[in-house]
Amino acid sequence: MAKDVWRVGVAGLGTVGTGLLKFLAERPGFAPAGGKVEIGGVSARSRSRPREIDISPYPWFDDPVALAASPDIDLFVELIGGSDGPAKAAVEAALALGKPVVTANKALIAEHGTELARLAEAKGAPLLFEAAVMGGTPAVKMLREAMVGDDVVGVAGILNGTCNYILTEMEAAGRTFADVLGEAQRLGYAEADPTMDVGGFDAAHKITILAALAFGCAPNYAAAEIEGVDQVDLLDIKLAGDLGYRIRLTASAVKTADGVSVSVHPALAPKSHPLAQTTGALNALFIEGRRIGRIFIQGPGAGAGPTAAAVAADIADVMTGAVRPVFQAPAGTLEPFVAVDPSRAVGKAYLRLLVKDQPGVIAAVSETLAETGVSIDSFLQKPVEDAGGVPIVLTTHATPESVLLDAVERIAALPAVIERPRMLRIARV
Ligand code: HSE
Repeated sequence: MAKDVWRVGVAGLGTVGTGLLKFLAERPGFAPAGGKVEIGGVSARSRSRPREIDISPYPWFDDPVALAASPDIDLFVELIGGSDGPAKAAVEAALALGKPVVTANKALIAEHGTELARLAEAKGAPLLFEAAVMGGTPAVKMLREAMVGDDVVGVAGILNGTCNYILTEMEAAGRTFADVLGEAQRLGYAEADPTMDVGGFDAAHKITILAALAFGCAPNYAAAEIEGVDQVDLLDIKLAGDLGYRIRLTASAVKTADGVSVSVHPALAPKSHPLAQTTGALNALFIEGRRIGRIFIQGPGAGAGPTAAAVAADIADVMTGAVRPVFQAPAGTLEPFVAVDPSRAVGKAYLRLLVKDQPGVIAAVSETLAETGVSIDSFLQKPVEDAGGVPIVLTTHATPESVLLDAVERIAALPAVIERPRMLRIARV
């Protein structure tokens, strides 16, 4: 597919799209394989909205599907976002015509990856999405290409910069979730509708994609267990800190003989752990291979420069003429996703209770834990002003999740327990 000039169509002119146009205008001959990029057309929701760059030199398309199908486009870049709607229609239109597609759309790949891979492979068109996960930090190529000589058994990390920024700021400044989120929105760091980020869905899309690449299975977003940071209480951040931990929104995918589990949870990491040391909007990822062992990468997961750089790297890959399977193996040979029941996972946990300050409460709690089969690792009772009771916080030894959940139910039913105990996992990374 080597060409002297590649006419690229860019749909979606937000932060990443304008960052990409700026880069391509400055460095049209950036690709190592040679050849030049020209902008064959652009499309966005609004043509007139103020932008950092002047888009008037580029052919305008109201409809991204028309742009994708235009005979003046050799390669389609989709930066619209969203799992369905115009993004999916435009990507399908380009692939159906055998045109290479580069996208940053994690929702699209996580939710429709297998069908799009089938279409792309049937048409011999590359479908690349490095920018969909960890922005400028190359996680996708690492798993799809560099790790194929190994058997990856687990990937885990911090895949949402907005959540990591919020958690870092809550801890550093002692501010509530709502306060930090409100400020991040005012400053334009967080989306106007932050649900995808703070609800854990964005991280779940990303870990779903990484699981498919790591394990050679079909992506299965519906199987992901998802909990966001919107329920993380400042009190837990403080108490976890007293015990030597930080709370991080941890996305993980694990492969065992029984199948695959994919989850996103707020979890505690010891303060010296690389995940706890990942602060602000940074992303981080551990990859565990049977032969290579552990790899750790950390870097920017969002922003115009880093994300546009990842899109540009995919454009450069297309320009080499190589066509690889979209995931680790051809779509028709991907292993089916066999979901493991998450309650079978075994790990340590943090439990925070709010109890009445009266004799016998601690005895009742520890008796309940003993009856359920949960062994206590550390225990802290810490009077906190205005907490509405006395917080008791404890960590457990490794315990099956089903047992921990049973213990939470039984403790919640004790008369001296004021509110439902808060359980957080201790990161199993
Ligand atoms: N909204 C994402 C984040 C960046 O906060 O990490 C784009 O995937």
